[in-house]
Amino acid sequence: MNGKGKQMKAAFLTGFGGNDVVAYGEVPEPVRTADSVLVDVHAAGVNPVEIVIRQGLFAALPENFPIVMGFDVSGTVLDAPANSGFKAGDDVYGRLPNVYGAYAERIAIPSALLASKPKTITHQEAASLPTVALTTWQSFFERARLVAGESLLIQAGAGGIGTFAIQLAKHIGANVAATASANNQDFLRSVGVDKAINYETESFEEAGPYDVVYDGVCGDLVLPSIRSVKPGGRYVGLRRVSDERAWIEYGQTPEAAARIAAHNLPYRKAAEERGVEFHGPLTRPDGGQLAEIAALVDAGQIKPFVSQVFGLRDVAKAYDAMATGRTRGKIVVAVKD
Ligand SMILES: NC(=O)c1ccc[n+]([C@@H]2O[C@H](COP(=O)([O-])OP(=O)(O)OC[C@H]3O[C@@H](n4cnc5c(N)ncnc54)[C@H](OP(=O)(O)O)[C@@H]3O)[C@@H](O)[C@H]2O)c1
Repeated sequence: MNGKGKQMKAAFLTGFGGNDVVAYGEVPEPVRTADSVLVDVHAAGVNPVEIVIRQGLFAALPENFPIVMGFDVSGTVLDAPANSGFKAGDDVYGRLPNVYGAYAERIAIPSALLASKPKTITHQEAASLPTVALTTWQSFFERARLVAGESLLIQAGAGGIGTFAIQLAKHIGANVAATASANNQDFLRSVGVDKAINYETESFEEAGPYDVVYDGVCGDLVLPSIRSVKPGGRYVGLRRVSDERAWIEYGQTPEAAARIAAHNLPYRKAAEERGVEFHGPLTRPDGGQLAEIAALVDAGQIKPFVSQVFGLRDVAKAYDAMATGRTRGKIVVAVKD
């Protein structure tokens, strides 16, 4: 961030490590560049990958501390370029690219990454959407090419990704099964699944095979999930299985992308042997897609689920809550009261 004297409140990392590196204090205000929009931040969404970044374990890490965290933002435009499609006073939401910064009073964000905030929901609800919505939109439309009538299994149906994915898949017309603990079976049904699977007592394989598996759990579930996809179907994994295409879209060279994605080889082989496509996407910011998503929200097709809200001083507490792995829907940081 380039400061010119003006300061603002923010939550930031002072280094990589545990929650002891998460600080609250003043940092220089961002300066709006020729193609960016200055936004007065109302709320910011919290995502599990931030804990991986905080620990210094993400494959592409920022280097200059303090690092203001937060990918997902909802707020009001303070200043925008004349040709940006936005003007002071507009309510907007967006997803930041490889730089972060939403846990701050103000942020400068390229106009192409913003969309008008859905009118029917609050800023906190809007801030809960960008990452989970874009990831799922890109996974369903650009990767899995999910169509009406297909069967879909969502691993981790009760979390941020899952709650959005269930609703988008039902909107597309898919037949949706999703996994969660006993505690979340009624919740899954309230979000709209056709079949809720209790992973503590039931096998997701038995309810398959599926045309598409959308896997927010991964780890030990990648191989059995691939084996529960019908030949000709698609597997999309989200946790630590990002593929070459994703890393190239993220800005890595093809050589670096191949190196980072090499650990997926056993998964790619298993998928190939079964005649299944293997996908490991990474979220791509996209204001145009967020505009389409806002239209679905305002049409009542998709509803955000915010279960916990923390103050800007309490980002470490938000990370503790996220690290339990038990989040229902989304966690949000309220930047304005
Ligand atoms: N590749 C990408 O670009 C990308 C983008 C977004 C997210 N992700 C990743 O995708 C994963 C999911 O994201 P998220 O935002 O949905 O996380 P989240 O909100 O933290 O997910 C929490 C949910 O996971 C469920 N869960 C935990 N273990 C489970 C299991 N074994 N089987 C089924 N459900 C289980 C929990 O339900 P119960 O309490 O009922 O178990 C809880 O509701 C994360 O690892 C995240 O980092 C990747």
